[in-house]
Amino acid sequence: MKKLIELTVNGEHHEVAVTPEASLLNVLRGDLGLVGPKKGCDAGSCGCCSVHVDGKVVYSCMTYAVGAQGKEITTVEGIGHADDLHPLQQAFIDAGAVQCGYCTSGILMAAKQLLDTTPKPDEETIRHAIAGNLCRCTGYAKIVDAIKLAADRL
Ligand code: FES
Ligand code: FES
Repeated sequence: MKKLIELTVNGEHHEVAVTPEASLLNVLRGDLGLVGPKKGCDAGSCGCCSVHVDGKVVYSCMTYAVGAQGKEITTVEGIGHADDLHPLQQAFIDAGAVQCGYCTSGILMAAKQLLDTTPKPDEETIRHAIAGNLCRCTGYAKIVDAIKLAADRL
């Protein structure tokens, strides 16, 4: 049975009817049309679905939507736009860190949390911060370069 809940996503207030077991990922994508967070494994292994909840990166596939009430949720749509990219997004383009792009939104959210707390991370710290995000295309080197580039620019 569905229950009406209130969510704040990217600064906007939403009311949405969800089942108790609905994942935040399914609600973001299916009910709110925010398809930046991707469904990869749907089991807490790949990081494609990463979003911020109260500034901390979480796997939205493993987060109950009902548990996100009263918290600030940020998806990749909330950190920049096509005509006003976040420095991380621009750096990923400039460093060639995007291939298929399926992992990119999740890695951007992990990288943003890192740079929010550690403005000038070394390579080991960057690799540790994105360790929960799988990329099957890039081999990670260009992703690390992009995060370093964004840190230099910020
Ligand atoms: S889709 Fe959430 S961790 Fe893979
Ligand atoms: S760019 Fe394809 S999975 Fe990372």
